[in-house]
Amino acid sequence: MKDFVEQIQKRRTFAIISHPDAGKTTLTEKLLLYGGAIQQAGIVKGKKGARAAVSDWMEIEKQRGISVTSSVLQFEYDGYCINILDTPGHQDFSEDTYRTLMAADSAVMVIDAAKGVEAQTKKLFKVCTMRGIPIFTFINKMDREARNPFDLLEEIEQVLGIETYPMNWPIGSGKDFKGVYDRNAKEILAFQNVGKVGTQQAQKIEAHLGDENLDQLLTKPLHDTLKDDIELLDGAAYEFDKDKVDHGKLTPVFFGSALTNFGVEPFLADFLRLSMPPLPRTSDRGEIDPCSEDFSAFVFKIQANMNKAHRDRIAFMRICSGRFERGMDVYHVQGGKKIKLSQSTQLMASERETVDEAFAGDIIGIFDPGVFSIGDTITTAKVPFAYAGIPTFAPEHFARISQVDTMKRKQFVKGMEQIAQEGAIQIFKELGGGMEEVIVGVVGVLQFEVLEYRLKNEYNVDIRRNDLSYSYIRWIENEDLDPKTLNLTSDTRRVEDFKGRRLLLFTSPWNIDWALEHNEGLRLSEVGR
Ligand code: G4P
Repeated sequence: MKDFVEQIQKRRTFAIISHPDAGKTTLTEKLLLYGGAIQQAGIVKGKKGARAAVSDWMEIEKQRGISVTSSVLQFEYDGYCINILDTPGHQDFSEDTYRTLMAADSAVMVIDAAKGVEAQTKKLFKVCTMRGIPIFTFINKMDREARNPFDLLEEIEQVLGIETYPMNWPIGSGKDFKGVYDRNAKEILAFQNVGKVGTQQAQKIEAHLGDENLDQLLTKPLHDTLKDDIELLDGAAYEFDKDKVDHGKLTPVFFGSALTNFGVEPFLADFLRLSMPPLPRTSDRGEIDPCSEDFSAFVFKIQANMNKAHRDRIAFMRICSGRFERGMDVYHVQGGKKIKLSQSTQLMASERETVDEAFAGDIIGIFDPGVFSIGDTITTAKVPFAYAGIPTFAPEHFARISQVDTMKRKQFVKGMEQIAQEGAIQIFKELGGGMEEVIVGVVGVLQFEVLEYRLKNEYNVDIRRNDLSYSYIRWIENEDLDPKTLNLTSDTRRVEDFKGRRLLLFTSPWNIDWALEHNEGLRLSEVGR
């Protein structure tokens, strides 16, 4: 029993969020190096064809050299069992990226020190705040010309609305980058650029700010700036508050350079110290303790046709309580049936491994003969319960999709419905209409290509796509309201999704405001619940 609780307590499950090119892949690789999970950096994603992709299960991924879907990387480090939920890094990211955050207990936000907070970071951050999970910030690429660190902190606070607490402080940047000052240990971690691999241990120097001998290491102007900066920081502006960290109200900030492996190890050490093990999750029967004897998990992602020959699907689940054992019998709450979990998978680095045992906090992939949907719960509890469902996130790109050959209507409808059920696309139709005209909404435009590819390859259907100019979607929350009675701009469209929820498609935020101003009591939501 003690061992069981220890297993759960030592787990840390998190996702890394960033805008493309900020250095998420590089940081992931360096973290994996510490765990010995990979021997050599460069295995995480096949960006330019040179690296092996983790989940290159689909041709389209191979062709593009990007990772369309996300997977999990697990490794042990310093007595912890770390699960990194890998999220697609390409700018054509999808709803999967958002859903993955539903399975994470905390997030690491990587920011490019020259660019600050970028568009995709903002979107992903919003999902994290929706859940109130702790967020740790790694300001990357300090070995290049960077923006003023105070400006960067201010931008995080202003744009994202979260307080910051710098754990260390950079000394110069780019050619002048000398290292970071650890505010807690009051020592300098000196930067030595040892080339791209950067495996050498950084040198730690006890630093009494103001000591003349520091002038040699830092040059006097840098030393003076550091002294002033630290004085300013130690002033009232930033205060560390663990409770705020736990609730995602304050982010501990670390400066470093992932590429040169500078500052990654101290970051990992502090992250492990400050982040939390799996916590209780809300279900329709109250909070479920992760250390409960009863096993439970929910589906946050479904990945189809990993092996085209078998047409199989894998349902990725986050274990929320208890212990998983291969072959165990569980109850699938939404299906109302008992099932045996005989084929289980964990995606780790470049291999797909079979898992025999896993604990709360872990992610497992279960062979899915087509019974699971996103958000489903499985459990061994005598009195079954269901975890709160996963919200539907607002797509930002829309297109009208129709089949080229009208004789293939049946395959078209089946393919569209199945792909939508997996959560790869969202489909909408006219209010009360059928499948004559289908509007497809996606979070990232690459999903249109995936849809086209899959319909052709798996269902033998060619499609025609007409892009639509809508970019904003809102679910109507007023249940008793007839959308036809709404006073809307002529370019606003009324549709419904396949759960029968009514929505509006807008071409601009201005039109959303217009709708709200001209329809008293109208309540619109950015997520479908
Ligand atoms: P992403 O997953 O967030 O998209 O970013 P990724 O790690 O792929 O990094 C994007 C680019 O930034 C890469 O260069 C990477 O080498 C570089 N980079 C990451 N961290 C640092 C850092 O700390 N300092 C510096 N100077 N560069 C960094 P690339 O040329 O686009 O790709 P590659 O050919 O080197 O892989």
